[in-house]
Amino acid sequence: MKKNILIIASVMLVLAFFSSCYYDKEDFLYAKMTDSVCDTTNVTYSGSVKSIIDNNCIGCHPGSSSASFNGYTALNTYLNTNSQKFLDYVNHASGSSPMPPAPAAKLNTCNLNLIRIWINAGHPNN
Ligand code: HEC
Repeated sequence: MKKNILIIASVMLVLAFFSSCYYDKEDFLYAKMTDSVCDTTNVTYSGSVKSIIDNNCIGCHPGSSSASFNGYTALNTYLNTNSQKFLDYVNHASGSSPMPPAPAAKLNTCNLNLIRIWINAGHPNN
C-alpha cells in the first residue's frame, strides 16, 4: 500500500514536471492569419499558401475544373502560364473578375502578400 502511494506520487511529480514545459503555441500557429501580425519570412506552399487556397478557393476550383487549385500540382500547372492573371484576380485589379467573388470578402492584406511572395519566388513546392 505504501509502495502504491509512492508510485502514484512519483507519477504525479513527473506529470507536473512535464506539463510545466508546455506552452500555448496558438499565437504562433495563427499569426499568419491576421493583418496585424503578418509573418512574411520563410513563406512556403505547405505552411502558408495551401490553407489560404483551401479555405477560400477550392470550393469553386476543385480538382476536375480547368482552373484547379486543389493541391500543389494543379495550382503549379495553372500558375506556370497564368500567374499574373491569378494575382490580378485575387487583388481585384481592374479588368479582372474579383476572386473570391462577391459576397465573399477580398483576401486580407497579409494573405495577399503571402501569395504574392510565394508566386514571385517561382511558386516552389515547399
Ligand atoms: C463562389 C465560387 C468561386 C470562388 C470561391 C472562387 N472562384 Fe475563382 N472563379 C470562379 C468562376 C465562376 C470563375 C470563371 C469566371 C471568370 O473567370 O470570371 C473563376 C475564375 C477564376 C480565375 C480565372 C481562371 C481561368 O480561366 O484562367 C482565377 C485565377 C480564379 N478564379 C482564382 C480564384 C482564387 C485564387 C480564389 C480564392 C481566393 C477563387 N478564385 C475563388 C468562381 C469562384
